[in-house]
Amino acid sequence: MTIGIDKIGFATSQYVLKLQDLANARGVDPEKYTKGLLLEEISIAPLTEDIVTLAASAGNSILTEEEKQEIDMVIVATESGIDQSKAAAVFVHGLLGIQPFARSFEIKEACYGATAALHYAKLHVENSPTSKVLVLASDIAKYGINAPGEPTQGSGSIAMLITQNPRILSFNDDNVAQTRDINDFWRPNYSITPFVNGIYSTQQYLDCLQTTWEEYKKRFNWTLNDFVAVCFHLPYPKLALKGFNKLLGDSLSQEKQELLQKHFDASIVYSNRVGNIYTGSLFLGLLSLLENAETLKAGDRIALFSYGSGAVSEFFSVELVEGYEKYLDKDRIKVLDKRKALSVQEYEKVFYEETHLDDSGSAKFSSYEDQEYALVEILEHHRYYSKVEK
Ligand code: HMG
Repeated sequence: MTIGIDKIGFATSQYVLKLQDLANARGVDPEKYTKGLLLEEISIAPLTEDIVTLAASAGNSILTEEEKQEIDMVIVATESGIDQSKAAAVFVHGLLGIQPFARSFEIKEACYGATAALHYAKLHVENSPTSKVLVLASDIAKYGINAPGEPTQGSGSIAMLITQNPRILSFNDDNVAQTRDINDFWRPNYSITPFVNGIYSTQQYLDCLQTTWEEYKKRFNWTLNDFVAVCFHLPYPKLALKGFNKLLGDSLSQEKQELLQKHFDASIVYSNRVGNIYTGSLFLGLLSLLENAETLKAGDRIALFSYGSGAVSEFFSVELVEGYEKYLDKDRIKVLDKRKALSVQEYEKVFYEETHLDDSGSAKFSSYEDQEYALVEILEHHRYYSKVEK
């Protein structure tokens, strides 16, 4: 039995900040962002869009009514959770109308969480082959006004339906994970933005990449020659490019190097315009590769490198299935073109927007015209979401 990704979708927030504008406002050379980080734009979310609304949008974009009745597990991977107890997956389960006899829960380890969720989903389908699992990687990355990580913020959600005999790609049984107890990036419960040891985090990312890859090659006797592409966790594409260049040490023909480079470039098209979406960012890279590369075919093997600060990293690989291209959206870039551009002043206003609860713990929201799902109200500390009627 093969198990893998049967469908994959993406949703991002309604606003975009152009980094050219941010650079001008911060007195920075715009090329620092466009060339130094390989970022052009970042998605910005207002208060009414959170990990639940983004996940519901991403899920709804791929699921039929029939599939909603077949899913028996919903997992949301996130590091920007909206409640310490109630899982975002429970809200999403309700919003999507998934049949009641399903497990719904949240999973966390920084940007690595969705990789763990995929592994859990695979084990579940192995045990129960007719099951379908909805994995959602949903996050809003907020570093702070004027913080070094400010141009790498972003927001979005990736939805993946995991089944047997998948129509897009199958998982290979070749996962190699590594854990290191380090303080490169973390967010205590009392802080709305993370603490970041920026340069140290990039060193750890690259060192985990190298050491996990060495262990992977040792265990599976595969080299870069066995893959047509490598997708990376993308905190910003330039760091992944550095990682990619580190891996090129294997004895590769000129032709192979060029193919891998072309596929790397295809894998960063979306992140370049969305920014870091934490748990979803590796899979946004995978989606970008599948929808923007022109030379992929069934049977091609793609390696994936997952990294979550703290830190857990993992290498694993997938294989494309015959007809995979029928389940993709080659026009997805239009979704990004549709976002409303904010001035830096407007972005800062959105950034500092806070929920003001009245004495009963209630608040109403109204600015949700351009989103599919919205947080519409908090009533006595309960969050209420709704599909927005257009
Ligand atoms: P910075 O201040 O932008 O650093 O912060 P910089 O001064 O080193 O500049 C960045 C690059 O721009 C450099 O390129 C400069 O040379 C270049 P490099 O030397 O690295 O190749 N540059 C220019 N290029 C062209 N024209 C110019 C110009 N000026 C400079 N005029 C930093 C960078 C990563 C520290 C910051 O963005 C940050 O703190 N980011 C957040 C942390 C982060 O993303 N870390 C990545 C690894 S950890 C991770 O991936 C996990 C994470 O996703 C969270 C999770 O797991 O939950 C973050």
